[in-house]
Amino acid sequence: MRILVTGKTGQVGYELERSLQGLGEIIAVDRSQMDLSNLDQVRDVIRTVKPNLIINPAAYTAVDKAESEPELAMLVNGIAPGVMAEEARKIGAAMIHYSTDYVFDGTKRDSQGAFEPYTEDDVPNPINVYGKTKLAGEQAIIASGCAHLILRTSWVYSTYGKNFLLTMLRLGNERDELKVVDDQWGSPTWSGWIADTTAQLIKEQLITSSNHDDAASRLSAIAGVYNLVNSGYTTWCRFARQIFIEAATDGHLKKNAPTVLSIGTSDYPVPAPRPANSQLNTAKLEALLSAPVNSWERSLHECLKRDNV
Ligand SMILES: NC(=O)c1ccc[n+]([C@@H]2O[C@H](COP(=O)([O-])OP(=O)(O)OC[C@H]3O[C@@H](n4cnc5c(N)ncnc54)[C@H](OP(=O)(O)O)[C@@H]3O)[C@@H](O)[C@H]2O)c1
Repeated sequence: MRILVTGKTGQVGYELERSLQGLGEIIAVDRSQMDLSNLDQVRDVIRTVKPNLIINPAAYTAVDKAESEPELAMLVNGIAPGVMAEEARKIGAAMIHYSTDYVFDGTKRDSQGAFEPYTEDDVPNPINVYGKTKLAGEQAIIASGCAHLILRTSWVYSTYGKNFLLTMLRLGNERDELKVVDDQWGSPTWSGWIADTTAQLIKEQLITSSNHDDAASRLSAIAGVYNLVNSGYTTWCRFARQIFIEAATDGHLKKNAPTVLSIGTSDYPVPAPRPANSQLNTAKLEALLSAPVNSWERSLHECLKRDNV
């Protein structure tokens, strides 16, 4: 099986190159080789590589900057994935694409008034530009008729790139006190786990012993949207406290852990509004997988244990 992976310099793309080893011929490309804002180049690369499977973790992920660059964010997140999916359909390839909890407005509550996790059947209603562009990308892939998996993830971190974990470790080594938002709920999700779980899905669902190249017809049977997040829910503030508990014992912190004070979303103004409830229900994904979904605490522990920062 030939697998084309976009965005190999990103948190998920970088891990995918490692996790997919042994599953086929991996052609991982970066922005210089396949720029998603250049639709002709996107088509050319796919026509040249002729993959059986396209995995697309590349995205415009600067959530706040997207508010002032909506056209570029829409081209990369909303239009390019649709072009990839059309090309995939024409050559009989399948596509795995990543999307986000930010397609929702974060207001879902149960009958008691508590936040309730979103399922794949809930109707999206994004409240920022990034969320709108990612939803457009989902819709374009579905409309293309290509065999696809759309994996919605959230609060992605790793020991690589730009993310909350690395920001906390840096600030925790500089300061004695931090103020962190405590009223947005979601699931921190390690990019290493996302990549391993994607590889597991491919192994268990797409590769048949008789024909490794027929990913599209195998994928058609399970095609659709899936929530792919570590299990359990927390806030950014509680996530930060857990980071410092882990970091204090494994050498990532060079001084005493800082005190993490709880603040509200309104105390930390940013250009793009965030959903208060980013919780995603993973039951649909779990029905596909042979192994249980890692808790967010376990993934954080495994991430910091595996990699030096
Ligand atoms: N990060 C999160 O918290 C989060 C949350 C929910 C969902 N997601 C989704 O999960 C997926 C993976 O995210 P991630 O955290 O791995 O993102 P990331 O670390 O920000 O990486 C994004 C990747 O996309 C590439 N990219 C950006 N613009 C591009 C363009 N015009 N052409 C080609 N490549 C381009 C980047 O290349 P450069 O290195 O050249 O910039 C980088 O390789 C994305 O679909 C994202 O929307 C992420």
